[in-house]
Amino acid sequence: MRPFFYIANWKMSQSLVGAQEFVHALINDSMFTSLPVTTKIVLCPSFPLLGFLAPELKDTPIALGAQTCSPHASGAYTGQASASTLAEAGCTYCLIGHSERRLLRGETDEQIVGQYNQLVNNNLTPIVCIGETEKEHAAGDTLIILEQQLTLLIKAYQENSARTLLIAYEPVWAIGTGKTPTNDEIAAIFVWLKNHLKNNLANATTFLIYGGSVDETNSAAIKKIAHIDGLLVGSASLTFKKFKNIVV
Ligand code: PGA
Repeated sequence: MRPFFYIANWKMSQSLVGAQEFVHALINDSMFTSLPVTTKIVLCPSFPLLGFLAPELKDTPIALGAQTCSPHASGAYTGQASASTLAEAGCTYCLIGHSERRLLRGETDEQIVGQYNQLVNNNLTPIVCIGETEKEHAAGDTLIILEQQLTLLIKAYQENSARTLLIAYEPVWAIGTGKTPTNDEIAAIFVWLKNHLKNNLANATTFLIYGGSVDETNSAAIKKIAHIDGLLVGSASLTFKKFKNIVV
């Protein structure tokens, strides 16, 4: 059976107390003990919280992920975190290429490939985010943009294969806005993504994730769309109750 991923991207919005309360509520909830083994929950807190949450999640099926990593192995890169130290901190996943990093921090596809390689070299599973802006969407350029964002990554995978690769399609205009594409639009994108990866990464173990304004009201319908292997959830993942309603 294919796994289904629920990835909580807490961005910079979760405090230490909030994160600990969330984790306690999650591991003590009856839903948690009866989760199918195919349900994979990944929590992505900000860097300083990783070391606090790792011991709490140890020996549970819940995985810890970081929100970005350095494209460098180590060295004089003030403010960055290497994939190797993220692994030491207990991470097994890491988001890269999130639109807030691309747009606010100017991260390029070349840097994202550097991050990808660092993650693969340190046995972390990359969750690579791609997606078009509102302007690109309005111009009908979505697939051109997705293809561009995947080009260097596909090449990097061919040279340095990740054991597992997660690709998260997040339309930039849907992130934090309460707007989502229609389910038919999402379905069409995922058919394209599935075929594109089949044609270019035939032997890869890839999972396709949707993100962008996923909440309790729309998650059930999005989950049913063909080729979707998981959800990447931002604001609706901050409170356990809302997140639980998305998972169950
Ligand atoms: P959102 O964020 O669910 O708040 O739209 C998703 C994301 O940025 O990953």
